Amino acid sequence: MHTVTTERQLREQVRQWRESATPLAFVPTMGNLHAGHLQLVRHASSVAGRVVVSIFVNPLQFGPREDFASYPVTLEADQAALVQEGADLLFLPSLAEIYPHGTGATTVVEVPGLNAMLEGEHRPGHFNGVTTVVAKLFNLVQPDIAVFGEKDYQQLLLIRRMVADLCMPIRIDSVATVREPSGLAMSSRNSYLAGADRAIAPQLYQTLLDVQRVLEGGERDYAGVEQAAMQQLAEAGFQPEYVSVRRQADLALPGLADGQLIVLAAAVVGRARLIDNISISVA
Ligand code: PAJ
Repeated sequence: MHTVTTERQLREQVRQWRESATPLAFVPTMGNLHAGHLQLVRHASSVAGRVVVSIFVNPLQFGPREDFASYPVTLEADQAALVQEGADLLFLPSLAEIYPHGTGATTVVEVPGLNAMLEGEHRPGHFNGVTTVVAKLFNLVQPDIAVFGEKDYQQLLLIRRMVADLCMPIRIDSVATVREPSGLAMSSRNSYLAGADRAIAPQLYQTLLDVQRVLEGGERDYAGVEQAAMQQLAEAGFQPEYVSVRRQADLALPGLADGQLIVLAAAVVGRARLIDNISISVA
């Protein structure tokens, strides 16, 4: 596996691959790779002849009081894991390579509506940072396919909308959330969990499973179910931010005729802010 850091090196390699007409799949990440990221890389390898992975901790998607400065960096272990998974190229750009005019002066890609609800409401500006950096990375790598995790479901929908709206010739594939045996969704931010928080964290997914059971049992009072889940999280030791039942297709509030639902949640425990979701089919 080669590692390249500049646009020029990246474009030279991609140009050669494009000439050979080998399909190219791309997995954007912020590094500190875990089994969830590696599942995305494995999926990419299974659908394309060449796999590019990027590692870039994108300051534009972090709020002023968030963890940009302390975000875990484990480059050597990441590179070893990517070699193991058979990735072909690692793109490791510097800040100046991605934001030559500074983060405050960049052109911004914004997906309205979807960027303001749920995560967007609790992390203002976050999704504009995500769509801006992913648009730039797509233009640099020029993949045929890009792979995203369902763990960040709202992000996945925003990327799909951006690609459709901007007519980007890229297929977006998604991969199911990879979990620890306890049910806790794998996340780089799980490294912030200390001591007792480790035992509390899996209860986020357990709460979502409870919501799933209740809704699949026929309950249609979504507001009541959300409130009960918020209380359950608070009693478990979280500071819950939201639990919300939405339509899978567009994250709109569901009506009684909607059958494909998703429950999304965010909750803080100790130093970690965790998000998770679960899909639900109701008749
Ligand atoms: P990051 O948090 O590093 O995640 C990179 C990709 O891995 C995302 O598509 C995310 O959904 C996926 N992922 C994370 N945990 C997962 C899990 N437990 N199971 C399955 N997939 C998982 O998401 C980002 O980085 C950034 O916002 C990025 C898209 C790279 C833009 O900066």
